[in-house]
Amino acid sequence: MAKITVSKLLKMKQQSEKIAAITAYDASFAQIFDQAGMHVILVGDSLGMVLQGHKDTLPVTVEHIAYHTRSVAAGVENTFVMADMPFMSYATTEDAYKNAAILMQAGANMVKLEGGDWLYDTIAGLTRNGIPVCAHLGLTPQSVHVFGGFKVQGRKEEQANQMIEHAKSLEKAGAQLLVLECVPVALAKRITDGVSIPTIGIGAGRDTDGQILVMHDFIGISTGYIPKFSKNYLDITGNIPEATELFIKEVQDSIFPEDERSFD
Ligand code: KIV
Repeated sequence: MAKITVSKLLKMKQQSEKIAAITAYDASFAQIFDQAGMHVILVGDSLGMVLQGHKDTLPVTVEHIAYHTRSVAAGVENTFVMADMPFMSYATTEDAYKNAAILMQAGANMVKLEGGDWLYDTIAGLTRNGIPVCAHLGLTPQSVHVFGGFKVQGRKEEQANQMIEHAKSLEKAGAQLLVLECVPVALAKRITDGVSIPTIGIGAGRDTDGQILVMHDFIGISTGYIPKFSKNYLDITGNIPEATELFIKEVQDSIFPEDERSFD
């Protein structure tokens, strides 16, 4: 497999080839995922929950993400590395520029921001300055206290239509990838069909252009609440390299996520 780039990810959407993505936070797991042919690794701010044991992602800082991005970047050869911009690190455009630069210099190939069209100028500015951006809509965990919990988003028609408009606007601003988290299957399909950039779903059904899992869910070591959309691949295969290959295959063959792991 050659190095994955934004152009390759776009081509995959155009050729209806599904994108497999997973979170990772260190070089050892990143190397296993890379060698199995994973297309994208996200250094997610989910590390606040799965590594640091917090109840949400809000305590995560740019320094935390930069540290884990350096570790992941050291472990990969071909996989595309995306780094999360943590809570309040892009509240102003100036903050976004400064903090995204830190993450790109730590080895990220792209940064991810949570939110809708209010990020238009920030995304346009980052892209102009050479920083590729992934947008994130639906259940955006940094806003968990605004939502009143980790809840499916976009079930009401008005909210769904609004999310579609946000997606189109984020693409126009320059976003080159879009994560859709915990949205109904039909809405994820409408968004995927309505934009030309690839969509990566988590709890968004099979019709997105790709799928992402948090690695602790994928190997079944998450504690506490286990999301409905997660799947323990280690349980099926008994070892992590084969679990990774199976996940990639099930994404590419549109087997994962099954209906019972999706939302209406
Ligand atoms: O932080 C993270 O791991 C994420 C994924 C759930 C998409 O944003």
